[in-house]
Amino acid sequence: MSLITVDQANRVFHLHNQTLSYIFAVEQGGTLSHLYFGGHVDHYHGELRYPRVDRGFSGNLPGSTDRTFSRDTLPKEYSTAGEMDYHLPAAIVRHTDGANALFLVYQGYRIEAGKPKLSGLPAAFVEDETEAETLTIVLVDQVSQVEFDLQYTIYRDRPVVTRSVQVCNQGDHAVNLEKVASMQIDFTDRQFETITLPGAHANERHPERGSINYGIQTFGSLRGTSSHQMNPFLALVDHTTTEFSGDAYGFNLVYSGNHAFELEKDQLDQLHLMVGINSYNFNWQLKAGATFQTPEVLMVYTNKGLNAMSQAYHHLIRERVVRSEFKNQERPIVVNNWEATFFDFNEAKLKPIVDEAKQLGIEMFVLDDGWFGHRDDDNSSLGDWQVDHRKFPQGLNHFVKYVHEQGLKFGIWLEPEMISYDSKLYQQHPDYLMQVPGRSPSPSRNQYILDLGRQAVRNNIFDQLDQLLKSKQIDYIKWDMNRHLSDIYSVALPPERQGEVYHRYVLGLYELLERLTTAYPHILFEGCSGGGGRFDAGMAYYMPQIWASDNTDAVARLTIQYGTSLAYPISLATAHVSVSPNQQTGRETSMSTRSAVAASGVLGYELDLTQLSSADKQIVQKQVVQYKQIRPLIQFGEFYRLKSPITSNQAAWMFVSPQQDEAIVMVFNLTSYAQPSLTKTKLVGLNPKLNYQNIATKAIFGGDELMQLGFYDPVVYQDYTTKVYHFRAVTEN
Ligand code: DGJ
Repeated sequence: MSLITVDQANRVFHLHNQTLSYIFAVEQGGTLSHLYFGGHVDHYHGELRYPRVDRGFSGNLPGSTDRTFSRDTLPKEYSTAGEMDYHLPAAIVRHTDGANALFLVYQGYRIEAGKPKLSGLPAAFVEDETEAETLTIVLVDQVSQVEFDLQYTIYRDRPVVTRSVQVCNQGDHAVNLEKVASMQIDFTDRQFETITLPGAHANERHPERGSINYGIQTFGSLRGTSSHQMNPFLALVDHTTTEFSGDAYGFNLVYSGNHAFELEKDQLDQLHLMVGINSYNFNWQLKAGATFQTPEVLMVYTNKGLNAMSQAYHHLIRERVVRSEFKNQERPIVVNNWEATFFDFNEAKLKPIVDEAKQLGIEMFVLDDGWFGHRDDDNSSLGDWQVDHRKFPQGLNHFVKYVHEQGLKFGIWLEPEMISYDSKLYQQHPDYLMQVPGRSPSPSRNQYILDLGRQAVRNNIFDQLDQLLKSKQIDYIKWDMNRHLSDIYSVALPPERQGEVYHRYVLGLYELLERLTTAYPHILFEGCSGGGGRFDAGMAYYMPQIWASDNTDAVARLTIQYGTSLAYPISLATAHVSVSPNQQTGRETSMSTRSAVAASGVLGYELDLTQLSSADKQIVQKQVVQYKQIRPLIQFGEFYRLKSPITSNQAAWMFVSPQQDEAIVMVFNLTSYAQPSLTKTKLVGLNPKLNYQNIATKAIFGGDELMQLGFYDPVVYQDYTTKVYHFRAVTEN
């Protein structure tokens, strides 16, 4: 069955699969009019059109006397500055005469099987051409001959449409792109709420549900990265949408730099949404004949609530964004020395941690920050990726060999995008440091940014890392980034092209990651940016897992991991057990709560294992065994949020196997009260016809019983307790 239907007579395009329909038409003036995005429509006859109404102060098409058609009021697919539309435009193009006029007119379309790659940018892909179809709509400005190709891909078996834009300058003169959104969508007669993922360092991705008021509202980042502060994801939901019912529209931008999700609610209660690269300090010179590709937006639609939206993203990102050969492999349980030692370590001090890890069944040792240059604190050596012989007198290989001999894999920390003043790299190449001529660059964590937009800089870093990786048996890399961009300037570009620096940095990063991950496909890469500061689908394309947050406090992590799961799969989020009281919050929690929260992601440990009490060691040992048993279920099962730590005094979630024959349920109680109200946990996603046994108590429940009646949570007079249930389908005698 074709996924894209074109009604040639009425010039209507209909993208459809079993779940959704996305419909737009070509109207007067070659204008694309958005008609519908929602549940699947089978019998569409093209009747719904935007009504023609003469609206004061909303002008009409050039040369037309029809006062009822206005690009200002029409719900559109893509708008530009200078076309009689008083809303925020999706694109702004500046011509050599200084004008920003652009009037895009429909020229034609192409349909192709599958999904073409996006040049230089991460994007969702297909493994087989029959999985998806792609529609390209060609719009052209007749005066300048600047062409906008709107790209839409619809997947056959996923509730997903992806969108991006390619701009091609077919004219004779260079133009400047001052803004190019990846998509626009306009809604009429909908009263949506937004769900976004704002946060902070060590406090990332706290879901926030908000109303949409008249005017313009932007959720975005100006930090040069996708950021801790505002993840590049937004959902539009109805007031009545819950985790399990109602319309949810998700928009996830596959990009790791400055982004903007712009909403405008206008005088007619119509809502415009634009998603793409933030136009702040963006100005791209597009020479005659050149093209510019925007990042891609992953759009999801469901009428089954937020869990269904999240699951669509979990599957899409895990299966069709992450490319690493590890994407379907169970991820090793690591111990990381950062919170155990910080910078204060040497080979002799690390070996006992490795020994202890072996005893506990841990599978990988990760050597964190401080192993290179002469880095005893965070003031030096970034850019010098050679081992510090004071800490490893017999070289790094000697230690790597030791780790391998204990049966553990070896991982290493890198921060390749950075440079310290106190480094050989700076002495040799001071110009690699991004800075504005004549001004002092601003430090952050006393470090500076490398100008990754430059090929020479990327080559230097690639060669250093290549040297390190080819001579050592390194199994894993933690790729960190501990500051945001500032001093935006590149000596490689003329003054009039400095507006390209932010985006060129991201493109440079992607190119470097492409080279490294291609050269070293057997290394497991983990993304990190001071925790989850670059937790986005763009990084997921190169790295199958990302450190979710520097905050390892189990209670804080409940909200962070809860929020993260809205838009990203569990297999992407790493989570570590650390010491109590926690180093970031000072909070005390039990080992079992810390373990359960960390085991709700890609589990690891981040503490001095040699300092554990023997009771805690036993818990860890047991937990490692248990986690290995349930690991496929956690990392690749269907994940459901049951109770929100933001709106209740509990958090609860569950993981169900694809065959629905096994489930893990975790219920976390937050603050303890005298005379507590009783709470029940009801499960979802099970087979109502099967019976399930609680493996610990042997009690048997019907699947329908667990989902309809649920069970009472135990009353516990203690803060931050956890209950983990493991159910397996059984045949009753
Ligand atoms: C920030 C990371 O998130 C931490 O886990 C650790 O690797 C430090 N950087 C090291 O500098």
